[in-house]
Amino acid sequence: MRLTVIGTGYLGATHAACMAELGHDVLGVDVDPEKVAALSAGRVPFHEPGLPELIAKHTASGRLRFTTSFAEAGAFGEVHFVCVGTPQRADSGAADLGHVDAAFAALAAHAAPDALVVGKSTVPVGTAERLARTYATEVAWNPEFLREGFAVEDTLRPDRLVFGVESARAETILRAVYAPVLAAGTPLVTADFPTAELVKTAANAFLATKISFINAMAEVCEAAGGDVRTLAEALGHDDRIGPKFLRAGIGFGGGCLPKDIRAFAHRADELGVPLTFLREVDAINMRRRDRVVELARELCGPDVLGARVTVLGAAFKPGSDDIRDSPALAVAARLRLEGADVTVHDPEAMDNARKAFPLLGYALSLEDALRGADLVLHLTEWPQFRAIDPERAAALVARPRIVDGRGVLDADRWAAAGWRLWALGTPAPVGEGH
Ligand SMILES: NC(=O)c1ccc[n+]([C@@H]2O[C@H](COP(=O)([O-])OP(=O)(O)OC[C@H]3O[C@@H](n4cnc5c(N)ncnc54)[C@H](O)[C@@H]3O)[C@@H](O)[C@H]2O)c1
Repeated sequence: MRLTVIGTGYLGATHAACMAELGHDVLGVDVDPEKVAALSAGRVPFHEPGLPELIAKHTASGRLRFTTSFAEAGAFGEVHFVCVGTPQRADSGAADLGHVDAAFAALAAHAAPDALVVGKSTVPVGTAERLARTYATEVAWNPEFLREGFAVEDTLRPDRLVFGVESARAETILRAVYAPVLAAGTPLVTADFPTAELVKTAANAFLATKISFINAMAEVCEAAGGDVRTLAEALGHDDRIGPKFLRAGIGFGGGCLPKDIRAFAHRADELGVPLTFLREVDAINMRRRDRVVELARELCGPDVLGARVTVLGAAFKPGSDDIRDSPALAVAARLRLEGADVTVHDPEAMDNARKAFPLLGYALSLEDALRGADLVLHLTEWPQFRAIDPERAAALVARPRIVDGRGVLDADRWAAAGWRLWALGTPAPVGEGH
């Protein structure tokens, strides 16, 4: 089939490449000419494992092309996937649907009358119905659940597909688009528009709640003298609860969860349903960043003024160079404002971090980052950081003190190597580091 993908960011570039991999002819459309030029040359302007290979393969085969022209997209596509951003509005926390409306308006002007427009962006419930009415277009909603860092795998082998459809024709078309994925046994849920839209926001709300639940337990452990890591392990053995998303730490960030739970709470308010717990989920999440700053102050003495602080991590999570709402960079920026001399190191996100936070210091190698540090903060869970040898690291730093903001470092091993280590969710540091 001939598909277009409107908006070729993290979601859209992945979707376009994976649709070509499924055997379709795909045209990616973006308003950003630089992005289009890079992708056309087979270059992916962000880090996503496996994606550069797929883009290079299908741009070379001619099955995947990119353009800025909606006229070209309209003439080409039988099905148009809308993957543009839905950022948070500064005034209210609601989703800004400006890009979505612009994409639908452009398609309404250029697409064939019988083309199907499929929304994949995360939108407030009620959007699909409004767009179908406003732009007199046949619409379907097909929310996306991919995880950055696993985006290709999650698109080619998703754990489920959700089709929000209001006609048998739309369902037939989507079944044809995803035929190889469905043939592999992927569960399909078909739903009306509101339910399909809500599956995405409800899934994000649930995951965020699970993270903030264990982080709230971390706060209680810190106050009461418990250890949240042991608590989480014991909770996870209960198969009604399960061990996943139960690791206490600095909390979630990124381009999706924070904005999506705020947009959901805002939309629920409009509908007269007070999802006030989501505001508490958000507040717990933000308090974890404050707690890391507090621990940094405590470990450095009364304050961090003049201390050389090394922040391990800039991406909001490992496997990505995405720094949108990164907890690590939020803490780094706060400490710099408090007078610390902050150096950041990240395996993939250095360029993005430098652009967004030009006043922070950056070290290209892990060794350079550690050298001379008065305090180390472990804030993004890259495997490279988990693999640090605490003895070698102790020889590089000025003072062996570390905050484990991800709760994964072996505290006894670090203490034995001379470090003073304070993990979130524990009441006191371990080890004697000076
Ligand atoms: N990133 C993820 O992991 C992920 C996962 C699931 C769902 N989503 C949702 O997918 C949507 C896109 O997210 P993203 O992370 O890919 O965002 P992004 O900012 O990386 O990409 C959005 C792209 O859309 C382009 N764009 C904006 N307006 C346009 C227009 N009118 N026409 C064509 N292109 C336009 C931008 O230039 C940009 O390249 C959001 O709603 C997000 O919540 C993202």
